[in-house]
Amino acid sequence: EVKLDHPGGQLSMPVQSAVEGPAGIGVGKLLKETGMTTYDPGFVNTAACSSAITYIDGDAGILRYRGYPIEQLAEKSSFLEVSYLLIYGELPTPQQLTEFSERIRRHSLLHEEMRRFFDGFPRDAHPMAVLSSAVSAISTFYQDSLDPFDSSHVEMSTVRLMAKVPTIASYAYKKSIGQPLLYPDNSLGYVENFLRMTFGVPAEPYEVDPVMAKVLDMLFILHADHEQNCSTSTVRLVGSSNANLFASVSAGVNALFGPLHGGANQAVLEMLEKIQADGGDVASFVRKVKDKQDGVKLMGFGHRVYKNYDPRAAIVKKAAQDVLGRMAKPDPLLDIAMQLEEIALADEFFVSRKLYPNVDFYTGLIYKAMGFPTKMFTVLFALGRLPGWIAQWREMINDPETKIGRPRQIYTGSPERDYTPV
Ligand code: MLT
Repeated sequence: EVKLDHPGGQLSMPVQSAVEGPAGIGVGKLLKETGMTTYDPGFVNTAACSSAITYIDGDAGILRYRGYPIEQLAEKSSFLEVSYLLIYGELPTPQQLTEFSERIRRHSLLHEEMRRFFDGFPRDAHPMAVLSSAVSAISTFYQDSLDPFDSSHVEMSTVRLMAKVPTIASYAYKKSIGQPLLYPDNSLGYVENFLRMTFGVPAEPYEVDPVMAKVLDMLFILHADHEQNCSTSTVRLVGSSNANLFASVSAGVNALFGPLHGGANQAVLEMLEKIQADGGDVASFVRKVKDKQDGVKLMGFGHRVYKNYDPRAAIVKKAAQDVLGRMAKPDPLLDIAMQLEEIALADEFFVSRKLYPNVDFYTGLIYKAMGFPTKMFTVLFALGRLPGWIAQWREMINDPETKIGRPRQIYTGSPERDYTPV
């Protein structure tokens, strides 16, 4: 039963589904037929699109890409295979995967003029700002793949993005530490190449740690899509004006830049460091959170969709234990994080509010152990989310129902008034 207030009185009706279902009246249909508008800041309940890519059941803690459970993909698949699955809808055959990887490999270089682009940024620029500008700039250098309605252009821009974003991301990092940029080494795999361009130095051999590469590949899989989150819906909204894929994805990078979205794992790490600096008293920190003392917040807990353990968080926690466990001197912040989780999950305050660790809670610890500075955490999120953005943009462009996005507003300002100078 759904009750709706509108100027004509209160309407109530059974809900078959939140959108138009095959039988019965859905809210979507009712709103369409009556011209009513729901006030829904933050799109809390508005189904603004239909999508066949990612399924989430937040109450049960389930996440699937194209029907495949995230746990199975994280364990058995590779990031490029998952990218193919998200973008094209099916798992690739071995030959399709090889061809996809080869095409990406061939496009990993940046235009020479584009390399110079990086010289113009100040050294202390946030790598995420550099990333979004450079992704946007791709459409200036590669003008032959901008038509959203030409399938060969869309294929080319898909491959170019998948190929060039890791190069751009590593250059954004090199820029921030004042080191020269490295050309991609196409004898390496996707993640290995990115690690070498990020941590290698010219004329010196760089041995990629296979465990590190495997874990990073898995983290990219976990971040590859998450249905209509802030950055993805931004990509769709910008794309709905028929902006090209590069422009739409750079808008997504900017949306992800925000501390509430992509910056959350950085905030978790800073919180853990603060607890450590204050003497490591986790129980007292939790008390402060509950008493809302000094604006203290428990970062990395709770999620708008998950009212249960974020399935990605469980996988990341295990990876954090493995990665940090094999280090000679494991980061004491892992211990603080685990204590924090244990105390919070045994406390009615957090349990009754359905606050469980989300994907951001343990990821920062792994990135730090791999040698990434906190400024790069959001960039890594963007690398992982890239195939999801591309898949969602392509789905939106190919949907004949797509119209240019235009949220309605409820006007709350002054009624008409006559102009009189003040
Ligand atoms: C994500 O993966 O995008 C985040 O969990 C945020 C979200 O889904 O809203």
